[in-house]
Amino acid sequence: MSENKILKNIPTHVAIIMDGNGRWAQERGKERTEGHIAGVEAVRKALKAAAAEGVRYLTLYTFSTENWGRPKEEVDGIMELFCRSVVAETPELKAQGVKARIMGDRSALSEKVNHYIDKIESETADGDRITLIFAMNYSSRHEITQTVKNLAQMASEGKLSPESINADLISDSLYSREYPDPDLVIRTGGEYRLSNFLMWQSAYSELYFTPTLWPDFDKDSFREALEAYSHRKRRFGLVEPKNDSEK
Ligand code: IPE
Ligand code: IPE
Ligand code: MG
Repeated sequence: MSENKILKNIPTHVAIIMDGNGRWAQERGKERTEGHIAGVEAVRKALKAAAAEGVRYLTLYTFSTENWGRPKEEVDGIMELFCRSVVAETPELKAQGVKARIMGDRSALSEKVNHYIDKIESETADGDRITLIFAMNYSSRHEITQTVKNLAQMASEGKLSPESINADLISDSLYSREYPDPDLVIRTGGEYRLSNFLMWQSAYSELYFTPTLWPDFDKDSFREALEAYSHRKRRFGLVEPKNDSEK
C-alpha cells in the first residue's frame, strides 16, 4: 500500500467495533484481561491515525450492554482499565486537541466509573481537533428503547404530538444526537456482524471487516480501511451521479 498517498474522501466519522482482545490474549496463553490491556495501545494508535488523516469523530465500541454477562473478573478488569486509562491518557488527549465523550447508559455504571467519565469529559471539553466517543454500556436496542420511552412520556404529557415524530426527531433523541452518522464502520476480529452497535445510525454507513484482532490493529490497518472506503461509491438509494469526476 502506498504509505504517503493522499486519500480522497476521508470519512468525517469512523466507528469501530474493537473485537478480538480475548482471542489475542488466548493465542499467547494469557488472561483475556491482558488482551484488553493490549487493546488500549491500539486505541492510542487508531486515535492518532484518525486525527492525522483528518477524521473528525471516532467512536469506539468499548463495552456493550451484553458484555455484563461476561465473568465478573473480566468485567471488573475492563472497568478498572477504563478508569486507569483516563488518568494516564487525559493529559495527552488534551495536548492533542481531543474531545472525549461517553455515549451509553451511565446509570448502570459504578460511581467510580462515572467519576472518571466526568473527569475525562470535563478536562477535554475544549478539544476541537477530533471527538473521541466511547460507547460504554451501549447497545442500539437499549438506546432506541430509551428513546421510544422518552418520546412516549413526552407525548403522554402533551409536550409532543405523535404526528411530529419523524426520523430526524428520533436521530435527535438518541445518545448520539450530537454527532453525525458514521460514514465508515470498521469491525476487527473477523466476525461479520454489528453486535447491537449503532444500528440506527449506520443505515447508510460503509462497512469494513478485517480479521486483524484489535490489539494488532495499527496505523497501517487504519489506513487500509480508509483506502477501502475511498473506493466506495455511496448512493444513499439514489442513482450514480453523472459527472462524478471525484471517483
Ligand atoms: C472486544 O474483544 C472487547 C470487548 C468486548 C470489551 P473481546 O473481548 O470480545 O475479544 P474476543 O472476541 O473474545 O476475542
Ligand atoms: C462487540 O464485541 C462489543 C464490543 C466490541 C465492545 P463482542 O465480542 O461483545 O460481540 P459478539 O459477542 O462477538 O457478537
Ligand atoms: Mg468479541
